[in-house]
Amino acid sequence: MNKVLEIDSLDFSYHTLSGETKAIENVSFDVFENEFLGIIGPSGSGKSTILSLIFGLLTPTSGEIHAAELTHTAGDTPIGYMLQKDHLFEWRSIYRNITLGLEINHQLNDEKKEFIDKMLADYGLDGFKDARPSQLSGGMRQRAALIRTLALKPQMLLLDEPFSALDSQTRLSVAEDIYGILKKEHKSAVLVTHDISEAISFCDRIVVLSQRPGTVKNIIPIHLSVDEKTPLKARNAPEFREYFNMLWRELHDEG
Ligand SMILES: Nc1ncnc2c1ncn2[C@@H]1O[C@H](COP(=O)(O)OP(=O)(O)OP(=O)(O)O)[C@@H](O)[C@H]1O
Ligand SMILES: [Mg+2]
Repeated sequence: MNKVLEIDSLDFSYHTLSGETKAIENVSFDVFENEFLGIIGPSGSGKSTILSLIFGLLTPTSGEIHAAELTHTAGDTPIGYMLQKDHLFEWRSIYRNITLGLEINHQLNDEKKEFIDKMLADYGLDGFKDARPSQLSGGMRQRAALIRTLALKPQMLLLDEPFSALDSQTRLSVAEDIYGILKKEHKSAVLVTHDISEAISFCDRIVVLSQRPGTVKNIIPIHLSVDEKTPLKARNAPEFREYFNMLWRELHDEG
C-alpha cells in the first residue's frame, strides 16, 4: 500500500506572551492510500495542532511531514480540511458557499460545476442549491460543507471533530453518510474525535495520544468481522466492545 502521508518525530510548541506551551512531542505516524486514520486523546493533547501542522497552517518546531504521494495537479488541492463548525456563510446560497473556494482561486470552470452538480444530486442536496444555510438541518449543512471541501478535489481530508456539533441521532447518520461519500470518492482521511465509538466505527487504525504534550501512546489497527464496513454496521461487530475497552484503558491510564 502506498503511503500518502508520513509524519516523523514532530515537535511543536506555541509561543505566547505568557511563555512556551509544548503541545506535541515526538509524534510519528503514517497514513496509507484509502486509509481512515483516527486520532484520539484527552482535551489539549494536541490533536488539532497536528492537523494544522499537516495542513501547513503551523510549522513544526522539529520533525518532518512528507506528503509524498499527494501530487498537486492543476487546480486540485492535495489536502482538504473540515472542521467541527461548518463555516457556511449565511449571506450566500448553498451553491455559492460550495463554489466560494473555487471562485477565490479562479478555478470555477465547467468541469468543476458539473462535478459539484453531480455531488449535490448524489448526496441529496439537489433541491437546496438556492437555500440559505439556516434553512438546512445540521446533517445537510455538514454534507454541504463536505461537498465544498471535495469540490477542491483533495486527495486526503483532515476532519477535526466534524460531527460533534450534531445531536447524537443525527451524528450517527451523518457519520454514515460522510463515510460512504469518502469511500466512494476514494479518499484518505485523518479523523480527530473525542468519541471512542466513533473512532472505532470510522477508522482503520487509531492513534492514541497522551496528555499534553501529546505523544503517541499506541497505534491500534481495527479489524472488525463485518462484511462491507460502515460506521453503523461496525457498531454491531462482535469485537466492538473489546476495542472500546482497550481504547478506554489506553486513554485513561497515564502510566
Ligand atoms: N494558539 C495557541 N496559543 C497557545 N497555546 C495553544 C494555542 N492553541 C492551542 N494551544 C495549547 O496547545 C495544546 C494543544 O491544543 P490543541 O488545540 O491542539 O488540543 P486538542 O487535542 O485539539 O484539544 P481539544 O480536544 O480540546 O480540541 C493545548 O494545551 C492548548 O492550550
Ligand atoms: Mg481540538
